[in-house]
Amino acid sequence: MTEPQSLYDLLGGETGVRALVDRFYALMDSSPEAKDIRALHATSLKQSREKLFMFLSGWSGGPPLYMRKFGHPKLRMRHMPFSIAERERDQWLWCMDRAIDAGNFDPAVAEHLKTRFSEIADFMRNQGV
Ligand code: HEM
Repeated sequence: MTEPQSLYDLLGGETGVRALVDRFYALMDSSPEAKDIRALHATSLKQSREKLFMFLSGWSGGPPLYMRKFGHPKLRMRHMPFSIAERERDQWLWCMDRAIDAGNFDPAVAEHLKTRFSEIADFMRNQGV
């Protein structure tokens, strides 16, 4: 019997997850649609890129790189220093949806990713509007 494929495998393993994260931050860096969340990040996106890659690796069932290096993600708590309202959530999802669409994933995988990310991004809101 073959093992069921993990989401990590469906995304193309390390190469696929890295490419998704790279597209996401390239969009954030260059799109007026994401200017407010870009301004929340440091000038260099290198560290953000590495951390999101490490997090998504474990989150999707691959090597738990983030956990090994930084411990439990406690994502909501780690986002508290940043003001995240609907606008910021929607800008984050704007970038991620486009990064997913550019990925040539199976449509069911793309849909699953979008749903899960919209739930996590909404959970990250720490401002009323
Ligand atoms: C809802 C809108 C969001 C905004 C505005 C936002 C913004 C930020 C900012 C400004 C940072 C700090 C950058 C850094 O330390 O390199 C950060 C870190 C991070 N974000 Fe987000 N984020 C959002 C949603 C998400 C979501 C949905 C995920 C996961 C799917 C995520 C995963 C991470 C991770 C893993 C880190 C690094 C945490 C750390 O170790 O400090 N973020 N985010």
